[in-house]
Amino acid sequence: MKKFLWVLLLLLAGCVSSVSEEPQLNPVKGTYRFVEETEGNLSLVDDALRFSLYDKFISELRLSRDPHYYYRSITLLVNKKIGLPVDFVPKDLIKTSVALSPSSSFTSIRRDVNNALTVMFDAALEDGYQLRFHSGYRSYSAQKRIYENYAQKFGKAQADVFSAKAGHSEHQTGLAIDITSPSSTGLFAVDFGDSNEGMWVAKHAHIFGFIIRYPKDKNEITGYIYEPWHIRYVGIPLATQLYESGLVMEELDN
Ligand code: DAL
Ligand code: ZN
Repeated sequence: MKKFLWVLLLLLAGCVSSVSEEPQLNPVKGTYRFVEETEGNLSLVDDALRFSLYDKFISELRLSRDPHYYYRSITLLVNKKIGLPVDFVPKDLIKTSVALSPSSSFTSIRRDVNNALTVMFDAALEDGYQLRFHSGYRSYSAQKRIYENYAQKFGKAQADVFSAKAGHSEHQTGLAIDITSPSSTGLFAVDFGDSNEGMWVAKHAHIFGFIIRYPKDKNEITGYIYEPWHIRYVGIPLATQLYESGLVMEELDN
């Protein structure tokens, strides 16, 4: 019996030492070890490099499974300079469940955004303000039609200050919504910003993860006129950071 216990102890000790010296059966760690060994520098790989290799590996893995993975980030910057692939379509689009404006169109939106929007619309209603969903996700081709219509009607230079060219609209991300209210004088009216509903949105949207993407006095930076109706979902941490700092996405260090 004593002999058996000694054998068991030795076996256990063997297991412990092999765990500490050999990589776990973990494909990620296995990959690191491979990268580290090819550099012949196993002990000098510091944590920063280890983590950046980890991020690179995970990003590559995700990109190999979903070539549009990068464009699905809720904090993605899209503007006149940075665009989206022609065939980019968000994966989790649903018909919005919030109240619509009478002339609403393009009523799909990403699922998480719809959830956040529902909570925001309910909170506004509790405070006595009615919000309405007007336009959400727009495909590349829908945006192309919209921009070209405006360009024909007002000329390209005019259209460019309030309408994005195809592939450059946040609406294609499924994260942007044009909102309005029953008491607003008209759609896309700057006076929405001065209405009680517009002021409520400007003050509270960040709590729900939204920002006014094209604020007053930032047109030189964003490239667009003040659009108090165009809200963009970026998640609560970034929305709060932007609200508190008064910065727009273009002003953040990347
Ligand atoms: N109105 C904004 C800029 C858009 O067309 O996406
Ligand atoms: Zn918009």
